[in-house]
Amino acid sequence: MNATNAGIGIDFGTSNSAIAWAIDGGIAEALPLEGTATTMPTALFYNAEDRTTHFGRDAVAMYLAGVEGRLMRSLKSLLGSSLMQETTAVYDGLISFQDIVARFLHELGTRAEKTLGHRPERVVLGRPVHFVDDDAKRDRQAEDSLRLAARAAGFREIAFQFEPIAAAFDYEQRVSKESVILIVDIGGGTSDFTVVRLGPERAVRPERSDDVLATSGVHIGGTDFDQRLNLERVMPLLGFRHHDARGREVPSKVFFELSSWHLINWLYAPKAVRQAQELRTSYADPRLHARLMTVLEERYGHRIASEVEQAKIDSSVGNAAVTIDLSFAEAGLGASLTPQDMAEQLADALGKVVASAHECVRRAGLRSHDLDAIYLTGGSSALRPFQDALRRSFAGVKLVEGDLFGGVAAGLAYAARATRKTASTA
Ligand SMILES: Nc1ncnc2c1ncn2[C@@H]1O[C@H](COP(=O)(O)OP(=O)(O)OP(=O)(O)O)[C@@H](O)[C@H]1O
Ligand SMILES: [Mg+2]
Repeated sequence: MNATNAGIGIDFGTSNSAIAWAIDGGIAEALPLEGTATTMPTALFYNAEDRTTHFGRDAVAMYLAGVEGRLMRSLKSLLGSSLMQETTAVYDGLISFQDIVARFLHELGTRAEKTLGHRPERVVLGRPVHFVDDDAKRDRQAEDSLRLAARAAGFREIAFQFEPIAAAFDYEQRVSKESVILIVDIGGGTSDFTVVRLGPERAVRPERSDDVLATSGVHIGGTDFDQRLNLERVMPLLGFRHHDARGREVPSKVFFELSSWHLINWLYAPKAVRQAQELRTSYADPRLHARLMTVLEERYGHRIASEVEQAKIDSSVGNAAVTIDLSFAEAGLGASLTPQDMAEQLADALGKVVASAHECVRRAGLRSHDLDAIYLTGGSSALRPFQDALRRSFAGVKLVEGDLFGGVAAGLAYAARATRKTASTA
C-alpha cells in the first residue's frame, strides 16, 4: 500500500494526542509528532508577543516561560458543552473553541504529512464511551463537534471508534491464546472500559463486533484527580473554605474554576478579575485574597495545575510525600501532598471508576473470575491508589500493564486499515 491512501488513527486525548498508521500485514507505527516524541500534549499557545501559534510541549514551555499569550489545554473536556461555541480573545481576535479544536487537528494532519509525504485524508478518531455522562444528546453533540472540527481540519473520510476497543485491538497483537479481557483505559478526562474476546485467530476476522462483549465509561480522569487535589491542597492557600470576620465562607466558585484545567482561562477575562476583586470583603485575612489576585493577574492558573499534576505523579510513582512548589507565586509558598492525602481525596472518584469497571463486566454477562486478565492503559492507570482499589475489587484477576500513551492510537490505526479494506471491497 502506498502512503497516499493510508488511513491514520488519531487519539485526540484530553491531555495527550497521538497518531499511528498500519500498513497491510504490519504492526501499527506511531508517527513522530514533536521531534522524535510520538505523543504530544493536547495544548495550544497563542503567543501575543509575536502573534504566532504553538502546539504541544512547545506551547506549554512558552506559557511556563512567562511569554504573554493564551494557553489552551483540556479542549476535549469542552466537547458537548455550550462553551464550544463561545469565543475567546487571542492575538488576532476572537476564536471559538470549535475552531481551536480544528486548528489543533489541522496541525496533527500537518505533522503526519511530514512523515507520510501526503496529507492524510482518511482518519479514524478515538472517542470515549461517554463524552458526557447520562446525556445522550450532549454526547452526540460532542461527537458531532469533533467530526466537524476534523472536517474543517481537512480530513475527508472520518470514522470513530471507542477508545477502549482501540486499546484492545492493540493489546491483541501480544495475546497468544484466546482470552476474555477487561480493557481499562484511564486517561486525562475519561475512564473507559470494554470486555473483549481476543486471540490470534480472532484478530484476523474482518468483523469483530461480536467479540466486543460490553463497554462502559465515566467522565472521570486524571484532570479530575488534579482538580480535587488542587482544590484540597492548594486552593485553601488562596481562600477556599476561608471566612470573613463574621464567619461567612468565601464564595467557592472561583476556586472550583481555577482548579479545573478547562475553565482556567475564563477567570482571566476582565469581568471575572473584577468579580474576584470584589471578594476582598469576604476575607478575614487580606493576604489570602492578595494571593488569589496575584494568581489571576499573573495568570498562574495552568502553572499551579501543572505543579499539582506533577506532584500527583511523583507521589504516586515514589509512594512518598511531595511538595507542590508555589514559590513562583510567592516566596516560600508550597503545599504538601502525601500518599494518604491522595488515597483519601481521590477515594470517591476512584470508587466510581471501579464501579464502572464492574458495570462493564456485568453488562458482558460475566463475573470477575471469568476474566483472563485486566489490561491497563492510559496515563492515569498508573496511579497507585487506583491500582490498589482495582486489585482489592478484582481480587485474583491478573493485572497487565500496557502501553500507557500509544496503545489507543495504534488500535485506531488497525481500525483505519480495516475500514479501507471494507471500503475497497464494497
Ligand atoms: N505515572 C502516572 N501516575 C498517575 N497519573 C499519571 C501518570 N502519568 C501520567 N498520568 C496522568 O495521565 C493523564 C494523561 O493520560 P493519557 O495521555 O492517557 O490521557 P488522554 O488520552 O489525553 O485522555 P483521555 O483518554 O481521557 O481523553 C494525565 O492526567 C496525567 O496526569
Ligand atoms: Mg486516552
